[in-house]
Amino acid sequence: MKLSPVLRFVLTSSIFGALTAGQFAPGEWSLVQDGLSGVSAMELAIVSETTAMILDKVEHNPLQTNGHVAWAAELDLVTKTVRPLNPASNTWCGTGSFLSNGTMVSVGGNPVIVVPVGGNGLAAVRLFDPCEDKNCDLFENQAVRRAASLRWYTSSARLEDGSIMLFGGSWVGGLSDFPNISNPTYEFYPPKNIHGQNGTPIFVPFLTETFNANHFPILIQLPDGNFFVAANTKAMIFDWKTNREVRRLPDVPNGVRISNPIPAGSTLLPLTPENNYTPEVLICGGSTFDDSMAHLANLSSQEPTSDQCIRMVLNDEGIAKGWEVEHMPDPRIMSELILLPDGRVTIVNGAQTGVSGFDTVPDQIGESNADHPAFTPSLYDPSAAPGKRFTQEGLPTSDIARLYHSTATLTPNASILLAGSNPNLDVQTHVFPTEYRLEWLSPPYMQHIRPTFTGLPATFDYNSQITLDVDIPEGGEKVSAIIMDFGFATHGLHMNQRLVGLVSQLSNDKTKLTITGPPSPNIYSPGPAFVFVLVDGVPSFGSKTLIGTGAQPPLDEGALNNVLSHQPLFWDKWLAMNPNASDAERNMFSSVPASSPTGF
Ligand SMILES: *[C@@H]1O[C@H](CO)[C@@H](O)[C@H](O)[C@H]1NC(C)=O
Ligand SMILES: *[C@@H]1O[C@H](CO)[C@@H](O)[C@H](O)[C@H]1NC(C)=O
Ligand SMILES: *[C@@H]1O[C@H](CO)[C@@H](O)[C@H](O)[C@H]1NC(C)=O
Ligand SMILES: *[C@@H]1O[C@H](CO)[C@@H](O)[C@H](O)[C@H]1NC(C)=O
Ligand SMILES: *[C@@H]1O[C@H](CO)[C@@H](O)[C@H](O)[C@H]1NC(C)=O
Repeated sequence: MKLSPVLRFVLTSSIFGALTAGQFAPGEWSLVQDGLSGVSAMELAIVSETTAMILDKVEHNPLQTNGHVAWAAELDLVTKTVRPLNPASNTWCGTGSFLSNGTMVSVGGNPVIVVPVGGNGLAAVRLFDPCEDKNCDLFENQAVRRAASLRWYTSSARLEDGSIMLFGGSWVGGLSDFPNISNPTYEFYPPKNIHGQNGTPIFVPFLTETFNANHFPILIQLPDGNFFVAANTKAMIFDWKTNREVRRLPDVPNGVRISNPIPAGSTLLPLTPENNYTPEVLICGGSTFDDSMAHLANLSSQEPTSDQCIRMVLNDEGIAKGWEVEHMPDPRIMSELILLPDGRVTIVNGAQTGVSGFDTVPDQIGESNADHPAFTPSLYDPSAAPGKRFTQEGLPTSDIARLYHSTATLTPNASILLAGSNPNLDVQTHVFPTEYRLEWLSPPYMQHIRPTFTGLPATFDYNSQITLDVDIPEGGEKVSAIIMDFGFATHGLHMNQRLVGLVSQLSNDKTKLTITGPPSPNIYSPGPAFVFVLVDGVPSFGSKTLIGTGAQPPLDEGALNNVLSHQPLFWDKWLAMNPNASDAERNMFSSVPASSPTGF
């Protein structure tokens, strides 16, 4: 359904000569506003070659479904129209990741607060099998499938076995995490019988060492199977298989805090055969504000934010060298770091002052806790010499503020979709409003003749070889192939975002490209990937496949049954705190006993 006449404008300017010739396609960027999201894009993920999933909170959205407001939608990337989806509970501030078989999992959320429709989503696990025929929907039934604890502002990541890990957050909403509302644990979906917890949550000391600003911790899978975890001013390497902090990393320099309510953008830089799949993380923005309880009650929308970007190679040598400090052209929180297929990073969205959230600072703008939207993206070339990596030259400036609850993602066509912004309790038209307008940011490579290919199978296994029929634009020289996980975007994080270079071999007549699957499930965990062929920095359309065999993740019935035989951890606390909970909420888990926390 088309929501309204489309407002369209294009802003372009030249970037010729700004970048190394040959490595990146020269030309102009463009920014086009086209389409409306129907629900505000608090959470955003590309789910197929032609569709994206948008999740919002239950509020007075224009998009309706079954006689009431919608709070989830599937966006058609080609027609730029949406159709409503039907989660059973409130998805407000949940997370999401894909399983090895391609099913998307949306986890957690909130009780119903603004409009009395839908159920309490704090423990929800919703499944979505992406389709191309507009015939799929979210499937949710907390009696047969749920999280083992309440999860609000939790992060998630897909593991090498194709299941997902849920990490941190709290059991009730708040501007920041605090010891008395925290959920300092991790768990899995599907649940695992591991570390003496038969599916139930496992305590992580790091999460209690990083109060208060540690909501939505940064969680990045590394090629040795461990995870990079960062929250507030601290970072560590974590081994979920032994439940051990393997190594404490140097603190974020200069006291900059990097997680909610002052989220920095973050990403793993490309893992390629050329860099021997050596992991390097990039984190940009944040704030040096005081996150003590006393000061949190006294914040300002004019609180300065940080322009600091830090990167570190995560091997012995890189960790010994520590964080490399750089500076973005402008300071930001709540921005998104979007990997481009050519290996660069685009920094979009966010605010230059304030904190995330709404209605909690005395000098709020409308309801926004943040001010001074960052209207111009920055481009970062990780391969350039220090001091020459950032530019805003030629990057188009928007006039749409993308603040709290805004998102962005790369699309299969390699443009960047900008969506959302809603620093409000309910839908608002005042500054800063609930934003439904979509923008499409196109890097210069979009204007070139694009390579094309056929022959990608539905699954692509590790170390296996497939041969694609390729059509290389005339004169094309440097040909390569990559796979990308576009991630699941929310609150400045892109759960699972990554780019992995493939070993590839072009035939002499330049019509066949033989590509080899990624070397291991730690370099790219089994699950959805978009394959791009690049010619002199110009990407093809990204075609979807499943890395691995497409098999389901391991399912431990015993662990699942154990999860279902108790109320989610913290449910009793939540009920005690909410004397006005509805009867439906009181009855949700009344047939099973309460959980008791173990290990913390
Ligand atoms: C947590 O502690 C803070 C500070 O003591 C208090 O303001 C807040 O109400 C507490 N929250 C809950 C859920 O107990
Ligand atoms: C609260 O803000 C006022 C005015 O900026 C300042 O004087 C005071 O020290 C602040 N209090 C705390 C606890 O940060
Ligand atoms: C992809 O982008 C190109 C511009 O590079 C455009 O011509 C084409 O229509 C787009 N394809 C889709 C499916 O959006
Ligand atoms: C994928 O795996 C999950 C977890 O086992 C399962 O619930 C879901 O139905 C599977 N999806 C498909 C398409 O088989
Ligand atoms: C519960 O509802 C009553 C009546 O609507 C209201 O006065 C009270 O403030 C509510 N309490 C809480 C904790 O929300």
